[in-house]
This record gives sequence, structure tokens and C-alpha cells, in this order.
Amino acid sequence: MTLKRLFIQNLRNLNSVDVQPSHRVNLIYGENGSGKTSVLEAINVLALGRSFRSHKHKPLISNGQNAFTIFGKVLADDHAEVPIGINRQLDGTASFKANGNLVGSAAVLASYLPVQTINSDTFLLLEGSPKVRRQFIDWLVFHVEHKFFQTWKDCQRCLKHRNSLLRHDRIDPFELSTWDQELVQLTEQLHLYRAECFEIFKTTFYELLQEFISVDGIAIGYYRGWDKEKSYADVLAAGIDRDRQQGYTHMGSHRADLRITVNGQNAAEILSRGQQKLLVCALKIAQGYVFSRMTGRKTVYLIDDLPAELDEKHRELLTRWLDAMATQVFITGVEQDSLLSSWHNKPETEIKMFHVEQGCVTEHSP
Ligand SMILES: Nc1ncnc2c1ncn2[C@@H]1O[C@H](COP(=O)(O)OP(=O)(O)OP(=O)(O)O)[C@@H](O)[C@H]1O
Ligand SMILES: [Mg+2]
Repeated sequence: MTLKRLFIQNLRNLNSVDVQPSHRVNLIYGENGSGKTSVLEAINVLALGRSFRSHKHKPLISNGQNAFTIFGKVLADDHAEVPIGINRQLDGTASFKANGNLVGSAAVLASYLPVQTINSDTFLLLEGSPKVRRQFIDWLVFHVEHKFFQTWKDCQRCLKHRNSLLRHDRIDPFELSTWDQELVQLTEQLHLYRAECFEIFKTTFYELLQEFISVDGIAIGYYRGWDKEKSYADVLAAGIDRDRQQGYTHMGSHRADLRITVNGQNAAEILSRGQQKLLVCALKIAQGYVFSRMTGRKTVYLIDDLPAELDEKHRELLTRWLDAMATQVFITGVEQDSLLSSWHNKPETEIKMFHVEQGCVTEHSP
């Protein structure tokens, strides 16, 4: 899966960008504030319908403009070319297109262009809320299990109904039991999808880990969102009083998490900043590896300001892994030379350089 052409109009300071990236390595450099992160942001928006910097769409639209448009030509792994695009208006209206047809949601685009981002926020994967880690594992489950997304949506809807019912003064027991039955079935199913993917992920992660970080006792575990010794139906029944008192469902797949520990203690509280970054890199690389193995496809990596985030030795290590995966990567940095230096001994890898200057992106040879 590679992005063969990228067209960006009126996103932040990028008013008109039209580039043909390398199917392998794309190094994007320029001064602070020139628009490097915005280029990655555009790819992220194209792939997921949302930015990694803002939940709102307005800050993304260039000042004084009414909308942004991002268009990409994706070369699928079976060599088919798929045009995908997104247009977002100031009033919030969004339209997504794939293969010339309007599609209902960004999730459809996501299946065409799987991306993994590594930036300073990614390093919150360890210390951030469970939601961040749930999204991390769900990315993989979404791409490998086609029924996952519909099950997840149904489960969210069911949970919403149950929560709203819990807030009623009088609850019809029949109605509650109907929602509970559906919720139990969907929740157990979601858990099975996640657990299956996680087991495969865990093996790869442990294999990779030693290369990235030399700390003993690192472990990763999957928490399903309720006590694993009990069935979800029993947990719902046992928790009904508390759920009613507080008006929401306490336990379930919406509370799932990944627990990353060092000798049993939360990794975020033990590891140094740099070690945390390396651990997160190992998680991200393992994710791409497992994705490739399970789907036969490749994910695109977006890496923002790599030189600033890792020391030289670990930059080289990450470069080596990315190179071995033979996947498409977009890496930004302020200095052209330090970006290039990690790739100097990879003569076979096709590298394209892009200079960003006040929102204009120009390609030149390395
Ligand atoms: N809605 C907008 N309209 C126009 N310009 C914007 C908008 N939002 C942000 N900008 C500007 O776009 C520019 C690009 O920001 P971006 O974060 O992409 O820069 P960068 O090259 O990654 O910089 P750094 O090296 O500091 O990370 C900044 O100058 C920013 O002030
Ligand atoms: Mg930046």
C-alpha cells in the first residue's frame, strides 16, 4: 500500500501541494513553521478522516478559506490504483470519496490507506488514558478482522441505550434484559477479536523488544475490560446496583486496555523518557509487522521530527527496521543532513527529498 500522489489544497499553510512520493522513503525538511508536520497531518487526515493534532476541523482549514481538500492516489498491494479524497468545509460538512464514489465514512478510506504515526504524542501511549492504548490495538483488529468495525459500532450503540435506560427512575426488567443480552453477545465477540490479535501481536513485540531496549522484565498484557475469571453476563448482573446509581455501565469492552509493565509496575512510572520512546517505537514497528503478516499488505509510516526524538544509535535502529519492512515512510526534520544521515548506507532504497518553505513543497534529489 503506497501513496503514489498527494494533492493538498488549503490545509493549514499548505495552499497547493502536488507531489509524487517515493514508494519507499520520503524525507521532508524545512525551517520551523514551514509546514512539514502539516504534510504528515494531511496524509493522516486522508487516511483516517481526522488529524493527530486537533479534534476540530476548523484549525485545519487555511485562514480565509472555506474548505480543505486532500486527494491521494493509492497503489494497492495488488497494483490496482485507487484514488481517494476528502473535502471538509468550514460548516463541518465532510465528503469522502474512494474510486470516484462518495463513501459514507472515513473508515472506508482507512481500509485503503493504513497509516501508523510516530510523533511526540505517540509517546503518550504509555502514560496516556486507556483509550489511547485501546485505539492502538483496535487499529490492528480493524485491519485484520473485517467484522470488527460493525461489531464495535453495534456495541457502542447498545451501550448507549443501556446507559440511557440505567438513568430512568423505573426500569422495565424485560427491556434491560433485552439490551443486556445483546450487549453480552457483542462484548464477548469484540473481546475475542481483540484477544486473538493481541496474542499474535505480543509474540512479535517480544521478539522486537530486545533490539530496541535493554531493560529486563518488560511485559505487555491485554485487559478485556472486566474480570477474566467471570463471564460478562455475570459481571453485568453483579454490577447492576452500581451501574444504576451512577447511570452508566462500568465494565465491558469499552474499558479494555493494554497493560505495559516493568517487573509488574507501570512502565510509564519506571522507564526513562528515552526508554519510553524506544518502547513505543517497538510497539509501533511490531504493529506494522503483524499487520503485514496477517494481511499481506503494508502500512505507511508517518514519523514527525525523528531526529529530535531519538539519539543517533536508535535512529539508525529504527531506520533499519523501517528499511527491512520495505514499507513507505514519510519522515520530517529540520535539518536535511541529519535526516539523510540515517539512510546513507542504504543505496538500494529509493529516497526522495522534499523541501518545505512557507507552505510550498518542492522535490529534489538527495
Ligand atoms: N489554519 C491555518 N491557516 C494558515 N496557517 C496555519 C493554520 N494553522 C497553522 N498554520 C501555520 O502553518 C505553519 C505550518 O505548521 P507546521 O506545524 O506544519 O510546521 P512545521 O514545519 O512542522 O514546524 P516545526 O519544525 O516547528 O515543527 C505554521 O507556521 C502555522 O502557524
Ligand atoms: Mg512540525
